[in-house]
Amino acid sequence: MKEIIDYIQNNINSFQEELKEFLSIPSISMLPEHKDDINRCADYVADKLRSAGMSRVEIFKTEGHPLVYGEWLGAPGKPVVLVYGHYDVQPAEPLELWETPPFEPVIKDGKIFARGATDDKGQIFMHFKSVESFFKVDGSLPLNIKFIIEGEEETGSASLESFINNNAELLKCDAVIISDTALFDEGIPTLTYGLRGLSYMEVEVSGSKADLHSGTYGGAVANPINILAGMIAKLHDKNGRVNIPHFYDGVLKITSKEKENFKRLKFSDKRFAEEAGVKLLEGEKGYTTLERVWTRPTLDCNGIFGGFTGKGAKTVITTKATAKISMRLVPNQDPNKISKLFTKYIKSIAPKSVKVEVKNLNGAYPVLTPLDNPATIAAAKSMEKAFGKKIVYMREGGSIPIVTAFSKKLKAPVVLMGLGLNNENLHSPNEHFNLNHFRLGIISSVFFMKEFSL
Ligand code: BES
Ligand code: MN
Ligand code: MN
Repeated sequence: MKEIIDYIQNNINSFQEELKEFLSIPSISMLPEHKDDINRCADYVADKLRSAGMSRVEIFKTEGHPLVYGEWLGAPGKPVVLVYGHYDVQPAEPLELWETPPFEPVIKDGKIFARGATDDKGQIFMHFKSVESFFKVDGSLPLNIKFIIEGEEETGSASLESFINNNAELLKCDAVIISDTALFDEGIPTLTYGLRGLSYMEVEVSGSKADLHSGTYGGAVANPINILAGMIAKLHDKNGRVNIPHFYDGVLKITSKEKENFKRLKFSDKRFAEEAGVKLLEGEKGYTTLERVWTRPTLDCNGIFGGFTGKGAKTVITTKATAKISMRLVPNQDPNKISKLFTKYIKSIAPKSVKVEVKNLNGAYPVLTPLDNPATIAAAKSMEKAFGKKIVYMREGGSIPIVTAFSKKLKAPVVLMGLGLNNENLHSPNEHFNLNHFRLGIISSVFFMKEFSL
């Protein structure tokens, strides 16, 4: 092992330079105008898998964005590990808030800044470099490995889901490793065992065919913006609970043991509020912050638009207003059922004077992964060894849509071995990745491949 670790330490600068190339491709899955960049990025991933030593690399075209598959199965009798990650990134807007351009990666204060640095390009790169280091030093891997790297995670992983259903044999494995979550804190080795699910809705309220003079018509017709705002206000009660009937049906309560574990973590409301840049934390009454973000379902309006938003005062009653609303879900809520409940409730509170359309844009199942399997145990040991500290287990408020398909279809344990930090501005301007964690992630991955092969 020592030789491989030395190899990583000696080559870490060139690994970082290479990561810059990857980060400079604007592979934004949500925007059709970046289709060529997405394809170029898939080619780049395929090249990296080849040069890392994979014996078979294939790009699978899909109805959406390409999937990149790589494998090396040169260790018969040894376990098969499937590494999953995503090469697509979120849009970079608002661009004016970036200190350096989002697709011109810069290293500053031990961090690499670019869209996708921590979510998820920097994190998948750790596994590319871990595998490459094995081949460079040993000429082989201690176990068998498969990679499946997709380009649609940020839009819900639709193509990968059908790919898994049709290619369970190709992806067959003993464990799935995913590095797309965060550490509990800087330098703390962490495994995540829970993710929230998601149900993402769009509500459009329309009234008149054209904008109306608000003097002539104000007081006589329904105003879509007023109505939408009123409907949004009805989505929570005064205790911060979601008002949708049956929303909380089946919500899994945390055990007293889990509650104790959360309390033992060094978490500060004050610091969390500071990092978020808010005056005060707020949410459902009766729960701690960690309980609220890790174990409670929530509803948030993500965007609202309509009407006159230019300079000055234009007196109009506009034609329509739209809101984008996401619900974070927890076990055992079902995103399909929740989106139906949402639609039903919205329709039930809509006045007859307007037309209301509700669309379901996106969804993900919530996840709780078991911890008592050899892969998770090996991952915990490996991270402890790399970081020189005891492992912390935590849950997460975000979602990774494909995890449920992996556990259901491949019936393999999923290990969430992320090395990001929640304050690394994922989905936000000035996204970055801590380069010490990048290095420790490569080393953790190397230790894991060895440990899980034994
Ligand atoms: N890597 C994130 C998930 C995540 C978020 C992990 C926060 C740890 C902390 C992933 O790329 C992501 O952003 N998922 C989306 C899924 C959605 C677009 C279907 C999310 O959670 O909003
Ligand atoms: Mn991600
Ligand atoms: Mn993301």
